[in-house]
Amino acid sequence: MAKRTVLDLDVKGKKVIVRVDFNVPIKNGVITDDNRITAALPTINHLVEKGARVVLMSHLGKVDHKDPEKTATDKAKNNMAPVAERLAQLVKAKVTFVPVTKGSELEEAVKAMHDGEIVLVQNTRYEKGESKNDPELAAYWASLGDLFVSDAFGSVHRAHASTVGIAERLPSALGFLVEKEVKMLSAAIDDPKRPLVAILGGAKVSDKIAVIENLLKIADKVIIGGGMAYTFFKAQGYEIGTSLCEDDRVELAKDILARGEGKLFLPKDNVVANAFDNATEVKIVDSTAIPVGFMGLDIGPKTVEYFTKLLQGAKTVIWNGPVGVFEKDEFAVGTEAVCKAIAELDDAMTVIGGGDSASAAKKLGYSDKFSHISTGGGASLEFMEGKELPGIAVIQDKE
Ligand code: 3PG
Repeated sequence: MAKRTVLDLDVKGKKVIVRVDFNVPIKNGVITDDNRITAALPTINHLVEKGARVVLMSHLGKVDHKDPEKTATDKAKNNMAPVAERLAQLVKAKVTFVPVTKGSELEEAVKAMHDGEIVLVQNTRYEKGESKNDPELAAYWASLGDLFVSDAFGSVHRAHASTVGIAERLPSALGFLVEKEVKMLSAAIDDPKRPLVAILGGAKVSDKIAVIENLLKIADKVIIGGGMAYTFFKAQGYEIGTSLCEDDRVELAKDILARGEGKLFLPKDNVVANAFDNATEVKIVDSTAIPVGFMGLDIGPKTVEYFTKLLQGAKTVIWNGPVGVFEKDEFAVGTEAVCKAIAELDDAMTVIGGGDSASAAKKLGYSDKFSHISTGGGASLEFMEGKELPGIAVIQDKE
C-alpha cells in the first residue's frame, strides 16, 4: 500500500513537524558536506510555500547519556547551531533556532511562528528518551505540532521518539526525499531491470552479511571487494598475510561461497603493502598469492578489468562500499575504476546505497553520474537487506 506524501496534506496555517536527517559532518564548527540539508529542501520549501509553520527536528552525531562528562562534551560537539546557520542561507523563509529540545523557550518559539516560517529544534539526541522512543517524550514533541512529515531517510531505520513516536501520535506523511529514496531503491531491489549486478565492498563481512544474503537471492551477479574479500580468500584456504580478516566469520564465508556458486565473484589480484601507514613496499599480487607480512589494501588491475567485464550489459547496478582504502590516494585506484565503470554504463539504472561509497563517488567527482545516491547509510543497507524500515512503516497509508 502506498504511503501518504506531503502532497496529501492540507498544511496551510498548520504546525508541521518535519523529521529531517541533518546529521552532517562538522569540523571545527564548519559543515564539510551539506548534502543532507539540501536534500531536504524540496519538502521544506514546499511546506513554506504552502503556508505551513515548519518545525524541523533532527539528530546530530551521538550523545552518550551514561557518563555525565561525556554527555556534556557530546552535546557541545553536536550542537545544531551551525546547521541552523547553513539552513538560513539556503532557504528564503525566516529560520529560528531553538537551542533546547524541551520547555518554554521551545513552546514559545513555536507559538510565535507565522505561516511560512521555520523553527529548527536542537539535536533530538540531547534527550535521553529519543533513542528509546520514550512515550512521554514522543507525546510532548507531538503536542507541538498538528501534522508530522518523515523526510529523514538516513534515520528511518531507527525506531526513535522523533522518527516513530511522533508519527504514531499525529496525522503523518512522507516527505519528497523519503518518497524518492524509496522509489529509487525499490526500483533497484524490488523490481530491477535485469541483469541486476551488485557490488559490495567495505571492511567487514559482519556488517554486510544480511545484504549479501538478500542480494544473492535477487541479483544476477554479486561482486565482492574491499576489506571483507580477505575473509572469503581465507575461507577458500589462501594465505592472506596481515590483511583484514574476521576469523569468526570464516565458516560463514565458506557457506556463502557455496550458496553463491556461479553468481558470487571475488577479486583476482590485489594491491598489497607491508604496512597500513608509511608502507615501504607496495606491490600487486594475485589474490591467491598474498605474501606473508603483506596486507591487501585495494583491488589490482586484473580485477578492475574483470569487474568491468562483469558489469557490462547490466541494466541495474547497486553499489555499496568501497573496494579499497579509498581515503588514501594510493589505494583509491580500484574504487575510482569501479566508480567509473558503473558511471559509464549505457542505459543502466545505477544506485549507490551507503555512506562510504557515496563519499567515494563525491571525492572522485562522479556524484552526478549515478541515477541515485542514497542519503542513508544504515537505512539504505537495511533497505537492501529487505528489512521493514520502522520510520516508513509507521506513516499512514494513502486512502
Ligand atoms: C546516518 O548517518 O547514517 C544517519 O544519520 C543515522 O545516524 P545513526 O547511525 O547515528 O542513527
